[in-house]
Amino acid sequence: MVAHMLIPPLNIGQLTLPFPVALSPMAGYTDAAMRGLCCEFGCGFSYTEVVNAAGLARGCRASWHLLETVPGEAPVGAHIYGNDAEVLAKAAAQIEQTGRFAFIDINAGCPVRKIVSKGSGAALMRNPAKLQQITAAVRTAIKLPLTVKTRIGFSPQDPGVDELVDAVERGGADALAIHGRYAIHHHSGAVNLPLIKQAKERARIPVLGNGGIKSAQDALQMLHATGVDGMLIGRGAIGNPWLFSALRAALYESRPPAPPDDAEKRAILMAHFERLYALKLIEGKFRRKARFDAEAGAARHFRGHLVRYLQGYPRWRQVLNRLPELASRNNLTELLDAVGLNVS
Ligand SMILES: Cc1cc2nc3c(=O)[nH]c(=O)nc-3n(C[C@H](O)[C@H](O)[C@H](O)COP(=O)(O)O)c2cc1C
Repeated sequence: MVAHMLIPPLNIGQLTLPFPVALSPMAGYTDAAMRGLCCEFGCGFSYTEVVNAAGLARGCRASWHLLETVPGEAPVGAHIYGNDAEVLAKAAAQIEQTGRFAFIDINAGCPVRKIVSKGSGAALMRNPAKLQQITAAVRTAIKLPLTVKTRIGFSPQDPGVDELVDAVERGGADALAIHGRYAIHHHSGAVNLPLIKQAKERARIPVLGNGGIKSAQDALQMLHATGVDGMLIGRGAIGNPWLFSALRAALYESRPPAPPDDAEKRAILMAHFERLYALKLIEGKFRRKARFDAEAGAARHFRGHLVRYLQGYPRWRQVLNRLPELASRNNLTELLDAVGLNVS
């Protein structure tokens, strides 16, 4: 029997996404290690961490390192921010030339003060004309599909979804992802599904819904309440990359796979750590300092992921206290033993 799919494949420009459910961009998390792992569990596409277009345009190594990809990843979008249309266009053209990205995405929703204060990220929602101008400049500079990730607004008093949809469409974007919270609320509070629905009804381009999807039920609710063409999963995927297989099953109306048992979880998180270590080895080659410890770098970076992998385990609090010691592969295995995730 062929399973019926609740969400059809999606075309964004010339890009076809057979399964339009993505790993949402998250600074500090969605590097090639996490993206590759989520891809193994069936994520349909993903985004890089957010990268400063100005850094890319002037050839900053650290900025380019954030765009590292690994072979075999799901289609990846390069996710960039900035406030200068010309600079964003230049960076986008350079990204296109690498040949490693399926699309380019403009950040118009990041509420972090140091980004907003420079007129980038969420600040663009307060200035739809600027958002349109930036979108149009990048559109002209590249042939790759172009998307914009935004929110339902900066605050309820600022321009709303209709203005934002219009700006992005007039700028020539191929799709729009919309996080159902205001920038003033950062990442907390209820997700406003009616406003995502309003954006979907207004837009002629595909709309992807985002916010609060942590389970298959949440994904079905987003789909039914808004009619979006695709979805972005953020925090629900941290420490839980197998969420994508559950979402696939739910959206194909087929039986969900059993969640991983402890032995599988341990194998998955160790595989994540090894991916991160491989990435740090590459980073080491770009570092000017000769003595760069990739293992320690990977272990430190992995702390944030580990907390989420182990949430809910007995002795979780004890592990939290020991997290600052996590500086090597050995420390990691010791911690896993301590929390009882000790099946090898
Ligand atoms: C740690 C963290 C970093 C994030 N970084 C970015 C970012 O760089 N660019 C962006 O557009 N959104 C960023 N987001 C927002 C997420 O992509 C997503 O829109 C938000 O978390 C809502 O989705 P969720 O409820 O599924 O997590 C970040 C969120 C978190 C928690």
